[in-house]
Amino acid sequence: MEFDFAKLTGPQRYKLLSSTVVPRPIALVSTRGTNGIDNAAPYSFFNVFAENPPTVVLGLQLRPDGVVKDTTRNIRDTGEFVVNLVDRPIAEAMNVCAIDFEEEVSEFDLTGLTRLPCRSIAALRIAEAPVAFECKRVVTLSVGRDRDLVVGEVLHMHVRDGLIDPDTLRIDLSKYQIVGRMFGDLYTPVEGTFALERMSPEEWRRRNPGR
Ligand SMILES: Cc1cc2nc3c(=O)[nH]c(=O)nc-3n(C[C@H](O)[C@H](O)[C@H](O)COP(=O)(O)O)c2cc1C
Repeated sequence: MEFDFAKLTGPQRYKLLSSTVVPRPIALVSTRGTNGIDNAAPYSFFNVFAENPPTVVLGLQLRPDGVVKDTTRNIRDTGEFVVNLVDRPIAEAMNVCAIDFEEEVSEFDLTGLTRLPCRSIAALRIAEAPVAFECKRVVTLSVGRDRDLVVGEVLHMHVRDGLIDPDTLRIDLSKYQIVGRMFGDLYTPVEGTFALERMSPEEWRRRNPGR
């Protein structure tokens, strides 16, 4: 089976892309509007793309009624945002933040998520998040009538105490209950990992003589 994307509608493309590229990490993005309201909303068209400069990208769509999302407007106005990562204990709060509330509503107040100041930007971060990245917008790419890609640079990282060894910078996976988005209403925990050793060409040839 194959699909010619030119012949598909937007919702059909969304269904195929978002149900196969899984699980996706979830950025619970916190921003502060020029009205002083602290906003938070989840975005799973999100990932990290480079470490030099440390780069994240968010895919921001219009609301179904065509209105610009609070996150999009706040990043446009301030050039700042926080990517808070989502673990199991804050998954339900994340889901409340996905409700299309009016712009005067702060999802911090509705969910009880705790505001914490950032070091380098005015937007607030979420105390309960295991990891939070303070970011500044580098560029916004308008890739379609209703879709912006925000490219951001990470300025500062906050990590819950005990999660990362300060000497080795290794994460303790047994304490990291990060969740990924599958599709629709489905999420997945990270349950079990396996290792595949990275080899040099020489090592691969040594182990595979004659190939
Ligand atoms: C897990 C999850 C991931 C989401 N990912 C995106 C996304 O990548 N892009 C997007 O535009 N909306 C996404 N949404 C929908 C927004 O979170 C939702 O429209 C939210 O109300 C926007 O809030 P805001 O207006 O405060 O920014 C997602 C929702 C959920 C539950």
